[in-house]
Amino acid sequence: MLEVSASKHGRIIRYRRLRRKAALRELVKETTVDVGSLVYPIFVKEGLERPEEIQAMPGIFRYPLEGAVEEIASAKAEGIKAFLLFGIPARKDELGSEAYNRNGIVQRLIRRVRENIGDDIVLITDVCLCQYTSHGHCGVVKNGYVRNDETLELLAAVAVSHAEAGADIVAPSAMMDHQVAAIREALDREGFTDIAIMGYSAKYASAFYAPFREAADSAPRFGDRRSYQMDWRNSREAMREIERDIEEGADIVMVKPALAYLDIISRAKQLFNHPIAAYNVSGEYSLIKYASQKGLLNKKQAICEVLTSIKRAGADIIITYHAREFAKWVKYSDVP
Ligand code: PBG
Repeated sequence: MLEVSASKHGRIIRYRRLRRKAALRELVKETTVDVGSLVYPIFVKEGLERPEEIQAMPGIFRYPLEGAVEEIASAKAEGIKAFLLFGIPARKDELGSEAYNRNGIVQRLIRRVRENIGDDIVLITDVCLCQYTSHGHCGVVKNGYVRNDETLELLAAVAVSHAEAGADIVAPSAMMDHQVAAIREALDREGFTDIAIMGYSAKYASAFYAPFREAADSAPRFGDRRSYQMDWRNSREAMREIERDIEEGADIVMVKPALAYLDIISRAKQLFNHPIAAYNVSGEYSLIKYASQKGLLNKKQAICEVLTSIKRAGADIIITYHAREFAKWVKYSDVP
C-alpha cells in the first residue's frame, strides 16, 4: 500500500508538514494529560515533628498530621483534586493492628482534612498491612507464609475504618485473593454502599517499589512478596486478575507499576469497559529525579513524556509523585 502510493504519487505524503511548528503540533496532538486525572500520594507519619524529606525520593516528604493537611491544601490550590493516603504508624505488631485502629494516623488525617479542607476533594486510602506489621508483609503470617483468608478480615476492617473516617475510595493493595469481595461485603454491611473500591488488581512484584519501602518503612523483614504479588513475566494472568476484581465489585482497576507495564494497561483498556488507573511508582519517580539532578535529561520534558505515555497506553487515572510539579507547569505554562 505504502509502496504503491510512493511509486504512483511520488513524494506526496510528508508527515513533517504537521510537525513544522508548535501550534501545528498542538493542533494534531492525540493525547493530553489533565491535572484532574492525577492522584497525588501523601505520606503521613505518626509522632513526627516536622516534614522529613525521603532520601530515596527527592522532593517527596513524610509529613506529620498537620503538615499533611497543609500539603493537601496547597496541592488543592494548584488544582489537584485526588489524594492517595499512606500512614506510617508509631507502633507495629504481628497483626498490623494500627491499620484498623479507628484513631490511627490515616483515620485521623482523613477527619482533619474533612474538617479543614472539606468534601470537594477525593480521598483514596491504601488498604494494606505492610507498613503496620512487624514482619513487613501485607498479611497475616503463619509458619513463614502469608495466609490469605485470615488476612481478608483484617483488610475489611481497615477499609471500614477508613470509610468511617470519611474516605471516598478504598484501595486494597495487599494482592490477597478475594480482597475486593471481602471489602465490598464489609462496607455494604456497615452501610457504606457509596464508598468506591479501587483494586490494585494487577500489581506486580516489582523492583521499582524500593524507594517507597524506605519512605513507608514497609520492606518485608524476611523473604519477598512473590507469593502474593504478580510475576512480571505474565500478561494473561493480569487480565484474569482484573476481570476477577471487576466481578467482585471493583469500581476502578489498577495496573502497577506503570512504565514497564504499558502493554498491560493497553491490553486492559481494550478488554474491559472499566476505569483504569496506573500507578507511576516510586522507583519510576526516583529514576527521573536522580537523572535530572545529574543533568542527564530535561526533567520537565521527561515527566511530561512519561505521564503522556501512561495516558496514551490507556490509563484514565494516573497516580504519580510528579503530580504537584506537573500541576504547576500545566497551569502556568504550556506542556512541552
Ligand atoms: C503497599 C504498597 C506498596 C506500594 C503501594 N502500596 C509497596 C509494596 O507493595 O511493597 C508501592 C508504591 C510505590 O512504589 O510508589 N502494599
